[in-house]
Amino acid sequence: MSGPSANVRLLLVEDVAQVSQYIRNLLNAQPHVQLLDVLSDGRQALDHIRAVRPDVLMIDSLLQGRVSGIQVLEQLRAAGIGIPVIMITVPQRPLKVDPALGIVRILSMPFSGFDFMNTIQAARQEYDSLRPDSTSRTIVVHGAKGGVGKTTLAFNLGVALAQAHRLRVMVVDGNLQFGDIRALLRVPESVPSILQLPTDRVSEADLEQVVWRDPSGIDILLAPPRIEMAEMVTVRDMEKVMSLLRRVYHVVIVDTPTLVNDMVLSWFDASDVIVELTTADWTTLHNSRLMAHTFSALAYPPERICYVLNRAGTPGSIEPRLVVEQLGRRPDFALPSDGRLVVEANNQGVPFVLVDQRAAVSQEVARIAAALATRPMPAGAVATR
Ligand SMILES: Nc1ncnc2c1ncn2[C@@H]1O[C@H](COP(=O)(O)OP(=O)(O)OP(=O)(O)O)[C@@H](O)[C@H]1O
Ligand SMILES: [Mg+2]
Repeated sequence: MSGPSANVRLLLVEDVAQVSQYIRNLLNAQPHVQLLDVLSDGRQALDHIRAVRPDVLMIDSLLQGRVSGIQVLEQLRAAGIGIPVIMITVPQRPLKVDPALGIVRILSMPFSGFDFMNTIQAARQEYDSLRPDSTSRTIVVHGAKGGVGKTTLAFNLGVALAQAHRLRVMVVDGNLQFGDIRALLRVPESVPSILQLPTDRVSEADLEQVVWRDPSGIDILLAPPRIEMAEMVTVRDMEKVMSLLRRVYHVVIVDTPTLVNDMVLSWFDASDVIVELTTADWTTLHNSRLMAHTFSALAYPPERICYVLNRAGTPGSIEPRLVVEQLGRRPDFALPSDGRLVVEANNQGVPFVLVDQRAAVSQEVARIAAALATRPMPAGAVATR
């Protein structure tokens, strides 16, 4: 949220001790800006930014050492990480704002506390103004059979959208009982979940306290850590959270359980696109056919559903003609089976799309991401039921 009451999480990359001390002193009197850390070596910046995900990055353009200030920004750009950057410089070395590199403000030394705070607030506001609202899209990853790859795809699709399309992505762990994303990423039980969000009025500041910032560059809203806690999350609370997420993120992806209940229906209703996963085996296709009936009963237009055939080409699979017959259409995408890459990456809690970008399965996820990043909003998306 913008305005002076906003809490800005700042990371400083500065190798001149006097400057960083001066900034620390300025911030001592500023409850609204939280200095996350001061790095004196540009080589640490990328990993650190991935880990702490600051709201604003302040970096000395005259950074000495192996990695210069501009090189840090180039690394961020290559990694698809978009953060508003304030460049510190001296009058003898004037700089210009450069949105392509994320530079939204220049702070020329010496600067006063007033200049400093104004610059931070302006950078933060710039960041807010780039934020989504009407352009945000909600993608619900569903499957009518357990184990078809929903969690794997939800996570990797999120990372692909964040990295290649420079979008702010939130993945909601919709497996409220079992917390599949929590399990996949091995997030400790003590890390807060959706349950820690207030139920009456939920704000972006509340969200900040609860989201898990994954090193892959996406944010996660975790499910509660225990099965019995799931029922404490009501559909009404979830609807409020979903509408907040839509204001904050370009893309909200929901990983769902293999169910059709009121909660899942509310996600369907909030969705722009439902990614319906299936596999070419009889029991799964039977369930996918039933789901197709449900989608049509809900009056969702066909373009709102994106069918993804997972583990395509597995020996013994049902032939494509019968897959089409069951779904009533051709799958939009087909992910090959790649146990070595996918299972291993999952077991390490990392996205396979980053482990091996060239693998066929990663390239297909990239195609899905590209299609969903540009997919037009279906007209009159909210269906009645
Ligand atoms: N394309 C693929 N190739 C190889 N293995 C895959 C592929 N997709 C998913 N898997 C593996 O299949 C298993 C199930 O995947 P995942 O947990 O994502 O499914 P799910 O639909 O979320 O399951 P659940 O119904 O329990 O929520 C995992 O071990 C995953 O690594
Ligand atoms: Mg799952």
